[in-house]
Amino acid sequence: MIQLGLHPAPAHVIAHFSDTHLVGGDRALFGAVNSHDNLLLALGQLERSGTRPEAIVFTGDLADLGEVDAYRRLRSTVEPVAERMGTRIVWVMGNHDERFRFQSELFDQDGSNDPQDRVYDINGLRIVALDTSVPGYHHGDLSDGQLDWLTHVLAEPAPDGTLLAMHHPPIPSPVEVMAILELQRQDRLAEVIRGTDVRGVLAGHLHYSAHSIFAGVPVSVASATCYSIDISATPKTFSGVGGGHGFALVHVYEEQIVHSAVAVGDFEQVSGFSETFLAKIAAMSPAERLEVFSSKTSSCSVEDIERR
Ligand SMILES: [Fe+2]
Ligand SMILES: [Fe+2]
Repeated sequence: MIQLGLHPAPAHVIAHFSDTHLVGGDRALFGAVNSHDNLLLALGQLERSGTRPEAIVFTGDLADLGEVDAYRRLRSTVEPVAERMGTRIVWVMGNHDERFRFQSELFDQDGSNDPQDRVYDINGLRIVALDTSVPGYHHGDLSDGQLDWLTHVLAEPAPDGTLLAMHHPPIPSPVEVMAILELQRQDRLAEVIRGTDVRGVLAGHLHYSAHSIFAGVPVSVASATCYSIDISATPKTFSGVGGGHGFALVHVYEEQIVHSAVAVGDFEQVSGFSETFLAKIAAMSPAERLEVFSSKTSSCSVEDIERR
């Protein structure tokens, strides 16, 4: 990455996907949404972008009904892309997932119904995958045992800090019905993470992009890759729509973390700059850049700069 301003390149880049909701067989989700094709579109867009994240974090609701063949399809879809990009995969449980199959199908381990909490070291950045699912229900919770475990994990800071990756975001939603399905006992989680090296919470579940703060920690919710919830719908109940899919890119700088939402789709480019233009701009001094690129009275056109 070329430094054209104040900030050097980020120390880490993570891709944040959520709510793939794959189904078994050739069925369509709700008879209307091909969640597998939508995941392929999102992964293809990430791969074509040239961004090479160190990890792709999937914050839950991976398989709509927790079916074995849905998990197998997920792996066979995501793993080749991750391998080509040289990136790791972080799977996180959601309320639609089933612990036993999640563990046996995605981790090649004996399945169990224990919480699927795991710790990843991404080149010094710690990602803690927290299982907020409650077997048999769609709301979220964390047991005392999980909170004790998290306290123990966070007792030792990581070199570049920690991101918590969890399905149920600890924030309110304007979609009123989602309150029933929110994370319970959020005050307990706040006690555990306050004062630790947790620098951000990555979450899903809402199916729309949202940002907030919890216990002093920024929270970023990625939209879904399968279908999104239109929060502009009237009445404000729950309106799942076949558009607005997305994922997010997480750029981790020394002092800041930037979460950028990516809209998935094949859109016509109506404005842009060539790589030649960027190379010419990069070769200029900072003062010269301001004059030719920032000044409203600059006499240099893009073509002029490309021809230099
Ligand atoms: Fe979901
Ligand atoms: Fe969910």
